[in-house]
Amino acid sequence: MNRNIGVLISGRGSNLQAIIDAIRGGRLDARIAVVISNRADAYGLERARAAGIEALVRDHKAWPTREAYEAALVGELRAREVGLVCLAGFMRLLGPTFVGAFPNRILNIHPALLPSFPGMHAQRQAVEHGVKISGVTVHLVDTTLDGGPIVMQAAVPVLDDDTEDTLADRILAEEHRVYPEAIARVIAGGWRIDGRRLVAEGR
Ligand code: GRF
Repeated sequence: MNRNIGVLISGRGSNLQAIIDAIRGGRLDARIAVVISNRADAYGLERARAAGIEALVRDHKAWPTREAYEAALVGELRAREVGLVCLAGFMRLLGPTFVGAFPNRILNIHPALLPSFPGMHAQRQAVEHGVKISGVTVHLVDTTLDGGPIVMQAAVPVLDDDTEDTLADRILAEEHRVYPEAIARVIAGGWRIDGRRLVAEGR
């Protein structure tokens, strides 16, 4: 697979930073071609620029429809020959215009063990539900919310005195470890999609 990555963010960008660090550290053989944020105040934009990576703001509110916005994003990514799109805290649900342009070439990271606790505030949902284990999921993106084939997961314990924030911190440490590994796995190839399972080729 083409090793040019496009990273979409909306905020803090700590997962973006983990990807940057993994590339620098030789743990991920890829290149971030562009970072795009739908919010001008996303701190991740500064992280990108500090690393010498092109960083764009494309505010969804400036486009009349979701389709037009997504077509604009696709145009920016194609112009930079992006082969894999990594969503890293990008807070927009993507529709067929975007997903259809990069079939099985979009990854997302979600702070729960899917299919438990999709959507917003996954860590709060886990604490409130009373599960004893939660974690992180990296998955391929289709048009369902947090629903595509799973690439990697890692579990963390949920402790009796956890709050949403303490659990989020424990999960985040795993996110930063797992996301670059999952990206490396997808880029390396040797996998195929069987139903909704991502499995090693030849199985
Ligand atoms: C992470 O918890 C990620 O799992 C979720 O949004 C958060 C983004 O954090 N999708 P950051 O912007 O990467 O720091």
